[in-house]
Amino acid sequence: MSDFKGAMFLAEQIAREAGELILRGERDRFGERPEVESTKSSPTDVVTAMDRAVEDLLRRRLAEARPGDGVLGEEAGLEAGTTGLTWVLDPIDGTVNYLYRIPSYAVSVGLVTGDPTVPGDWQPVAACVHQPATGDTWTAASGEGSWLGDRALRLSPVPELSQALVGTGFGYRQQRRTGQARVLTGVLPKVRDIRRIGSAALDLCGVATGTLDAYYERGVNAWDIAAASLVLTEAGGALCGLRGAPPSPEMVVASADPLLSSLVELLTELDADTDPALTEG
Ligand code: IPD
Ligand code: CA
Repeated sequence: MSDFKGAMFLAEQIAREAGELILRGERDRFGERPEVESTKSSPTDVVTAMDRAVEDLLRRRLAEARPGDGVLGEEAGLEAGTTGLTWVLDPIDGTVNYLYRIPSYAVSVGLVTGDPTVPGDWQPVAACVHQPATGDTWTAASGEGSWLGDRALRLSPVPELSQALVGTGFGYRQQRRTGQARVLTGVLPKVRDIRRIGSAALDLCGVATGTLDAYYERGVNAWDIAAASLVLTEAGGALCGLRGAPPSPEMVVASADPLLSSLVELLTELDADTDPALTEG
């Protein structure tokens, strides 16, 4: 077995264990909403005790299994390693869905080479995105393929832009959202429809699986996309930024050509990455 496939199986094992922890918490609360512990970039950008507990669990398991690797997690930041490999973790991607008990949230565990704090400087090599509420589990290993459960993923031919179902998301800050709303008014009339699923990782896995045709968002971080981007590229899809840039917090666009190029062109015309209203927050 390749090293990357071994890492993929480890990612799957610990993401599933994290999923069980989340579901146990749900059962123990008997339908009550989880408590918000603190907020980050805005009062609606919440952290629950479960976000922290899941990241702690993932970090503990990785320290046991692969002590030399670095770890970058959404909640606890970067711990540098010595192997040149870094695990990039989003303990609950779709925290607001988790808070409202909407099933579209996921545990995201990716392994990357390079520096995950610098856009364009890292490459995912192994991945698991696990959706505890449905039991869906996407896995991928570089050069080996990607899977939903045991089904190998291969992108179907993409429709033209006017027929495309496009996922997107919005940031937590008011100013960021004002710009995102403006861009949305330019995109919505040009596509089949828009979906705001609430988890960037599930959006990208959706494109890989064919439940979305494309996805774009400004403001996503490496932990939102590290694992799911490999699921997509191993299924034959691609991600990029605008104006030749790599995917980054400035902009992530995901699909396959020719739809990817059409969406990039539209978003560039709309200045979706450079609008001054979007530069703060
Ligand atoms: C968020 C989700 C959401 C996206 C936001 C992300 P979180 O991550 O992925 O879909 O629109 O940009 O911040 O806060 O739920 O981990
Ligand atoms: Ca996230």
